[in-house]
Amino acid sequence: MHQLQVELGDRSYPIVIGSGLLGGGFDLGEYVCGDDCLVVSNETVAPLYLDKLLPNLGGLSVDSIALPDGEAYKTVETMQCILDKLVAMRGNRDTTVIALGGGVVGDVAGFAAACYMRGVNFVQVPTTLLAQVDSSVGGKTGVNHPQGKNLVGAFRQPRAVLIDTDTLDTLPDRELRAGLAEVIKYGAICDAGFFAWLEDNMSGLVARDADSLVYAIRRSCECKAAVVAEDEREAGRRAILNFGHTFGHAIERCQGYGEWLHGEAVAAGMIMAAQLSNLPDRDVERLRALIVSAGLPVEPPVIGHGDWMSAMGMDKKVQGKQLRFVLLNDIGDSFVSADYDAARLDDLTGAAA
Ligand code: NAD
Ligand code: GLY
Repeated sequence: MHQLQVELGDRSYPIVIGSGLLGGGFDLGEYVCGDDCLVVSNETVAPLYLDKLLPNLGGLSVDSIALPDGEAYKTVETMQCILDKLVAMRGNRDTTVIALGGGVVGDVAGFAAACYMRGVNFVQVPTTLLAQVDSSVGGKTGVNHPQGKNLVGAFRQPRAVLIDTDTLDTLPDRELRAGLAEVIKYGAICDAGFFAWLEDNMSGLVARDADSLVYAIRRSCECKAAVVAEDEREAGRRAILNFGHTFGHAIERCQGYGEWLHGEAVAAGMIMAAQLSNLPDRDVERLRALIVSAGLPVEPPVIGHGDWMSAMGMDKKVQGKQLRFVLLNDIGDSFVSADYDAARLDDLTGAAA
């Protein structure tokens, strides 16, 4: 078992990573305030893991809700269902919301926890690779709007993140690969050594080698925890975690939420962001080769220039109508800038087509 800490003063919290943690292998009791909790999961994950989570909550009064599955349900309406459930169970300020599932469940459950009674305790139990390496850590919660990804939300740090790597055994291959996109992101934005490790170990990750997966999860969480500790609310540096996301979010929104998985859209988006950077061709090719070896797309779908620009115009990094992108100086060295080659952006988004 590995334990890391997200250092945020009196709101610091552990990320616990290991095999066999569900089924009672780790006591969540000390991270649950009061004596009742609501486990928020979905109709796919609840039948697999809800019963396994109960021994970790021994002695507590546990209610649960299973949301419909899919990115298309990451909406205000779904959050309303969680709020209705909290009211129905007469939840109070001591109630804990526990998210059991992937990034969709984590984001919408976290947002409900942020809003109910102006904020209740929240614990993350992520069950996808993407949620284990990214979405469960850092406190961004929220839902999509038809006009843009994650447009509505709140910061709400969890009290603990419990990552049982055994849950990946049931994760479909396509979802595992989507999670690898965010793993590659960390190497690209802040850790050239990790990027090189991924180049050497991607075949093991795709084949679900347990030790490789644990290392990739741990290193990804270390990178994210460090960035979040430095800039919790994205006043500056945290935005590097959005490498590839300005393009990726536009792909998700333009294709219809759920058509392209988040990780797939980010993969193609990272190539576009690398092409917009002043990066030597050989480094763009290294990134492309790594993404290909993870079985992820490197080309975006066909989207009209106007749709690209309209979707990206709703990006949260926009400042005074000016798009800003996360760009690379080098593999492992990223920055956020509005100073990019506009003609290159036109090219990438098919302005001439
Ligand atoms: P997801 O939550 O839709 O899960 C993917 C699929 O896997 C779903 O069908 C789910 O039911 C299923 N599933 C989950 N765990 C399983 C398991 N162990 N076995 C079998 N099936 C399982 O998708 P995701 O990739 O986990 O998350 C994507 C979402 O995360 C996006 O909405 C994205 O915007 C968000 N996100 C948020 C942050 C953040 O900081 N809050 C960061 C990155 C991504
Ligand atoms: N996934 C981007 C962030 O957490 O800031």
